[in-house]
Amino acid sequence: MKEDEHAGGAKEASAPAEPIEKLLQTASAEKGAAAAKKCAACHTFEKGGPNRVGPNLWDTVNEKKGEGKNGFNFSAAMKQKGGTWTFDDLNKFIANPKGFVPGTAMGFAGIQRDSERADVIAYLATLADKPVPLPTAAK
Ligand code: HEC
Repeated sequence: MKEDEHAGGAKEASAPAEPIEKLLQTASAEKGAAAAKKCAACHTFEKGGPNRVGPNLWDTVNEKKGEGKNGFNFSAAMKQKGGTWTFDDLNKFIANPKGFVPGTAMGFAGIQRDSERADVIAYLATLADKPVPLPTAAK
């Protein structure tokens, strides 16, 4: 997956500089749903959807890392990462999957553009029976 490399040029993919709370202020779940088409080669998003190359992403925000649905076989790296998928961790992972979880099986370069990444995360937050409220920025 190379589609996002143009955004960063030759620069190394790095951790996001802006806090996710700030980025989410102007995020659009609708735009995120459209941007998430680039994830759909490997992920389904609907409740009860099948795992593909990657796990189904219904109800991922606040879920334990490396647990997933329907017995998806996560990499050892993901299982060992620990903790839950907070907004902050999703921001870091989707910006640079291999930077945040070295050894992850997710073969995706990451979304470098802050606004697009925030849109996708805002969309992920809607995918639950009780959607997770977006955090508000500390002023
Ligand atoms: C080339 C296939 C591929 C693409 C494209 C891809 N992923 Fe993944 N994704 C995976 C795989 C494989 C895993 C499991 C990683 C592991 O076990 O290390 C994963 C794991 C994840 C997880 C962790 C899920 C959990 O339950 O712990 C999230 C969140 C995620 N992907 C989001 C995304 C988003 C958002 C996109 C699009 C911007 C995307 N992925 C694009 C393959 C992909």
